[in-house]
Amino acid sequence: MIYGSFPSRRLRRTRSAQWIRDLIQENTVCVKDLIWPVFVVDGNNIRQPVSSMPGVERYSIDVLVEECLKARDQGIRAIALFPVTPDDLKTEDGRESYNPDNLICRAIQVLKKAVPEIGIITDVALDPYTSHGHDGLLSPDGMILNDESVDVLCRQALVQAQAGADIIAPSDMMDGRIGAIRAAFEGVGLCDVMILSYAVKYASSFYGPFRDAVQSGSKLKGDKKTYQMNPANGREALHEAALDVQEGADMLMVKPGLPYLDVITRVKNEFKMPVFAYHVSGEYAMLKAAAQNGWLDYDLCLMEVMSAFKRAGADAVLTYGARDIAALLAK
Ligand code: PBG
Repeated sequence: MIYGSFPSRRLRRTRSAQWIRDLIQENTVCVKDLIWPVFVVDGNNIRQPVSSMPGVERYSIDVLVEECLKARDQGIRAIALFPVTPDDLKTEDGRESYNPDNLICRAIQVLKKAVPEIGIITDVALDPYTSHGHDGLLSPDGMILNDESVDVLCRQALVQAQAGADIIAPSDMMDGRIGAIRAAFEGVGLCDVMILSYAVKYASSFYGPFRDAVQSGSKLKGDKKTYQMNPANGREALHEAALDVQEGADMLMVKPGLPYLDVITRVKNEFKMPVFAYHVSGEYAMLKAAAQNGWLDYDLCLMEVMSAFKRAGADAVLTYGARDIAALLAK
């Protein structure tokens, strides 16, 4: 024997066959971890492909119901709704966001009746409703106003909750909005509505295809760096999350997902709270584009990404690939 007793440990033993690999596997991706983000448009019988997100379509409410019934049958537990607002309803002050009869509120009401088993998560932020594409209100000199924006966000959250949303998800990154929304809910007796805080949302360039999907990108003046976080910061994520926990968040979100796995782990370890990851539009688009070129296997890569989220500590994952993953798991 050339090396004496070397090697005394052989990790390859427990990788030698599928059955033993299964027995020692540390994390498992399952359908109950999936949240499916969907885009809603006004009208009837509409399916509009989103060109920068192959496989993703915007649905009118009637089609959305059909698709949600299928998603439910696949075992998907929740959807996250995002509206496409027609240009004529976009204003400086985003007032359509708190119209109790807006597209999102109508979608919630219809879905809650037709597919009551699926949890409904709604986005709280003004960008689909503002003519300037920002998540908050702009001052005359172009600054994002914090406290004035929070007032409007509270009104938006209230109409969504009153329409029947199960979880409202503020993604706007204004300071103090979790506490303000929680107080607004308690004030009207909506004490069971959950808040999923996008506590840790970075000013990321991976949101591009989403902004195409909701048609806010071409409108956006400047960037979102005065409210979304600097991608270079990790410690600050814990500070952000701590405030939202204190203010009454039920769950925390880290967004984007894959480039921020370290942040997911740190937030999970620090707070012992449910932590969700958002596998965002750009991450999805990269996989699809590479797969369309024959450079990557979409199914295998998507499952690998999901395993990475579980390993990092995410409890649930928002991904545009949710239905694909559910189908793969069912095989
Ligand atoms: C808007 C919002 C964004 C996303 C979710 N909610 C875009 C942004 O902040 O500009 C991005 C989701 C994705 O890229 O998939 N508040």
